[in-house]
Amino acid sequence: MSVQNPIGAGSNERSTRGEIYKVCEAGYNEIANAIVRHSALRELESFGKIISDKPLSHPERALFFATIWAFFKDVPAGIVALAARVTDEWIKEDMWHGTAKAAHILYASVDEYGLHQHSKHMLPTHHQMFKQLTTHLGLSDAELFNPHYILPEGTAMGNNTHRMYRSEFLGEALGFHLASEMTSSREFQFFLKGFQKYAGEYGLVDEDDPVLAFFAIHCEVEPMHVATGREIMISYLEKNPTIAPHAMRGAMAFMDGFEQMFAALNRRLA
Ligand SMILES: [Fe+2]
Ligand SMILES: [Fe+2]
Repeated sequence: MSVQNPIGAGSNERSTRGEIYKVCEAGYNEIANAIVRHSALRELESFGKIISDKPLSHPERALFFATIWAFFKDVPAGIVALAARVTDEWIKEDMWHGTAKAAHILYASVDEYGLHQHSKHMLPTHHQMFKQLTTHLGLSDAELFNPHYILPEGTAMGNNTHRMYRSEFLGEALGFHLASEMTSSREFQFFLKGFQKYAGEYGLVDEDDPVLAFFAIHCEVEPMHVATGREIMISYLEKNPTIAPHAMRGAMAFMDGFEQMFAALNRRLA
């Protein structure tokens, strides 16, 4: 399926379910390929090189963490909002399975909110892990919230995240979410490696210091989030192929903002 030319309702009639799935999978692949080919990933790689070439000084750490916090702070609630919207939409047409479809999105929140071992106990949330790490690195709230350190491109990513997850075009929100999960699965590997490399300079016991949990946990969970993001995208394309161009637009909005954020960080840190 071309994202520009989604299949029409009429052509569905002759297709078997398997064939429809294949067409929607191709539609998903088109979006996923555009994400991985986007130049934002080159900026991310350059950032990875910068933090593996030298440890970040205190003001550089403040710049990095204050900027990504301006973005990350809006992620968990965005995912929850999107899951609620998918539930509301889906049960209009398929009463009994709306929650099952939304579960593909909500699954990412289980990790964000520290619920994945809920039968035993609540775990720290991703935001709490971020706070533990930045406290360890000597960064105060005053520094993290200081406009001097927060690059406007980070603030723009946070504002976009807040807005796009709640976009009136559900396809746009799903595309934005997919790009967010696909980039997360890469970016945290760069972050983790960079900080592990200079464990001594960052005051870490060793490479496996638990204070790096904020980075390490994302390296663990993100591949699963990408898989669930894929499932819900394909399901939605099966239900409503006309969302394809919206999904592409949402994915590219994320990638453009992500590129600008890392390009700005790279200019300041190189
Ligand atoms: Fe997270
Ligand atoms: Fe994720």
